[in-house]
Amino acid sequence: MFSSRLSFADTTNALSKAKEKRLADGLPLVDLADSNPANAGFAWSAAELGPLLRRDGIQRQDPDPRGLPAARTAIADYYLARGQRVPLDRIFLSSSTSEAYAWVFKLLCNPGDELLVPEPAYPLLEVIAALEGVTLRPYRLAQLAGEWVIDTATLTMGRQTRGILCINPSNPTGAFVGRRDRDVLRGFALKHGLALICDEVFLDYPAEGVASPGTWVGETQVPMFVLSGLSKVALTPQLKLAWVVVAGAPEFVREAGRRLEHIADAFLSVNTPVQLAASDLLRRAEPLRAAVRARVAQNEAALRTWVTVAGQRCTVYPRPAGWTAILGLPPGVAEERFLLRGVEEGVWAHPGYFYGLPESTPSVVLSLLTNPDAFSQGLAALDKALRRS
Ligand SMILES: Cc1ncc(COP(=O)(O)O)c(C=O)c1O
Repeated sequence: MFSSRLSFADTTNALSKAKEKRLADGLPLVDLADSNPANAGFAWSAAELGPLLRRDGIQRQDPDPRGLPAARTAIADYYLARGQRVPLDRIFLSSSTSEAYAWVFKLLCNPGDELLVPEPAYPLLEVIAALEGVTLRPYRLAQLAGEWVIDTATLTMGRQTRGILCINPSNPTGAFVGRRDRDVLRGFALKHGLALICDEVFLDYPAEGVASPGTWVGETQVPMFVLSGLSKVALTPQLKLAWVVVAGAPEFVREAGRRLEHIADAFLSVNTPVQLAASDLLRRAEPLRAAVRARVAQNEAALRTWVTVAGQRCTVYPRPAGWTAILGLPPGVAEERFLLRGVEEGVWAHPGYFYGLPESTPSVVLSLLTNPDAFSQGLAALDKALRRS
């Protein structure tokens, strides 16, 4: 009776079953995979948000499919502060970055068409693609002298390839799409007539001392969709506001915009209160982002210390940006078995294979947002699991 789009929903795995059982048994579990900022103490207070969301105007709907000009101006100002002038008519508001992905997939792909995606990458992409009837064709990111770069031999066209996704900076690797990889992607897209889709939700979280190559909204040649949203930029996932910026040659921008407007108009999914609050949210978010960057650096330092004293034979991958760490496990330790032991010891983390990290170099992916005490507790439990692996 049901569509095969949801065939992914029929697969269960031993790890999530073990987690559910432990929680059902009422036993404690430190969640080192939780990347919800509010759970880690990074949230706006109700006293701060209340007045922003109770403005005159919240009683009306102005059904502009691109979104209210005031909110789009706030987003243009966000880019201006990052050195890029974005005309308002290139900005489309959606309720989440995930929804923005779905819209761009609808815009570019017929059912069965294909998009090139980086591997590793965050697993939600597979779900969104499956729901849109789109197939993902991975291209590999490989570590070269401590840097993640595109393995160009794996960037290949299929018969129905329509676009290339990239994540700047990536989750979970934290790698920016640097100049070399931008040239690779631009050249490949131009040669094969493809669009680029660049997810920049973690753009404002470079690690200290890392020079960010910046946003890619200034692209003038290649058909380009840049995606971002308040869930990471302003640490307000609950408010549901994200956006797509269309860039590239003027005729493309016009035609893509006209079509994207039809998609957005069919849903009109963005609520008025958040649009009226967008300017204040974006202008006032930096202190909270700075606190997140500090927390992430603190936990990363704790992880590195743990590796030197307890988690010997483990490695911490370089993290140019973002909120996650990749912990390399000793060769021969199986990710799933190690994490099943971890659940028994009271800690939950994601195996690298969830993100398409190669199992030949086993790894686990940890959220660095976690409260530092809980983070140390989680590491102590991982330590016990490691001793049993
Ligand atoms: C790289 C990346 N893009 C997009 C999203 C989803 O963002 P949103 O909450 O705006 O849908 C996530 C969520 O973690 C993410 O890691």
